[in-house]
Amino acid sequence: MSHALSRIATPQSTIGKPVVSVRGLVRNFGNGNVLDGLSLDLQPGSFTALLGRSGCGKSTLLRTLAKLDPAPEGTVQLPDERAVVFQEPRLVPWMRVLRNVTLGLRHPDAEERGLAALAEVGLSHRARAWPLTLSGGEAQRAALARALVREPRLLLLDEPFAALDALTRMRMQGLVETLWHAHAPAVLLVTHDVDEALLLADRAVVMANGRIAADIPIPLARPRRHGDPGFIALRSRLLAELGVDEEHLAAREPQRTDARASGAKPGGYGLPAGAAAAPSL
Ligand SMILES: Nc1ncnc2c1ncn2[C@@H]1O[C@H](COP(=O)(O)OP(=O)(O)OP(=O)(O)O)[C@@H](O)[C@H]1O
Ligand SMILES: [Mg+2]
Repeated sequence: MSHALSRIATPQSTIGKPVVSVRGLVRNFGNGNVLDGLSLDLQPGSFTALLGRSGCGKSTLLRTLAKLDPAPEGTVQLPDERAVVFQEPRLVPWMRVLRNVTLGLRHPDAEERGLAALAEVGLSHRARAWPLTLSGGEAQRAALARALVREPRLLLLDEPFAALDALTRMRMQGLVETLWHAHAPAVLLVTHDVDEALLLADRAVVMANGRIAADIPIPLARPRRHGDPGFIALRSRLLAELGVDEEHLAAREPQRTDARASGAKPGGYGLPAGAAAAPSL
């Protein structure tokens, strides 16, 4: 694994052969089409955020891309090297952390790779621990290590920070960005958090009616800050695509708006203390 990290360099989505190509995907659970002719390409090394209202089919699409729930209609081209991290860490409780990370890995040096992945997520000291003794953030870092150790070309993240407290969430966002820089997989991150999408991704796609309804590039320099004019403009645009009225949001949650205006900067993102309350749908 490469440990190279640059704060400036961004894994670039060179427009060429996509690493993921989905065409005309249809999925129906008996109550209308959840995926209804959905098409999407992901470029190698790109970071895409997938947003959309609850129940619109984001997890269904992710499960299809993870080959956990194949769609009956449409074509899907995927790399063999894939990994998924869900909202829950899904660790096997009767296996120690290192064993969880290397589970199913067929390399002769699986243990060494597992230890390297745990080191990357800052969890070397918990390699021999049982999963139930981990904190929520540690367990999610173990889940990230389990994904990383497979050296995925496609990393699927389904609301991986949603269950974490605000500070842990910020640290995890930073960690995912660091790991993306180091390994350059194509990332598809499902999130309800517009600010999270704008902090991490270089493209946001919005799902509605079973398709990609909006596809918005995020050409912001890194590291990103909430107060930057480009950030604010894209935030408004994304909220509008999601059908959220910003003024209504501000009136409903005055504390968050105030905290944002205060410009406090924990976590190095320019993220205010109330960042956990970033607009979510
Ligand atoms: N296995 C299943 N059986 C029946 N219905 C399902 C199944 N999986 C998903 N659905 C339905 O498909 C729709 C989309 O679900 P999905 O979990 O993909 O939404 P989502 O966009 O991920 O929502 P959320 O943001 O709340 O996680 C929902 O109406 C859900 O009830
Ligand atoms: Mg979901």
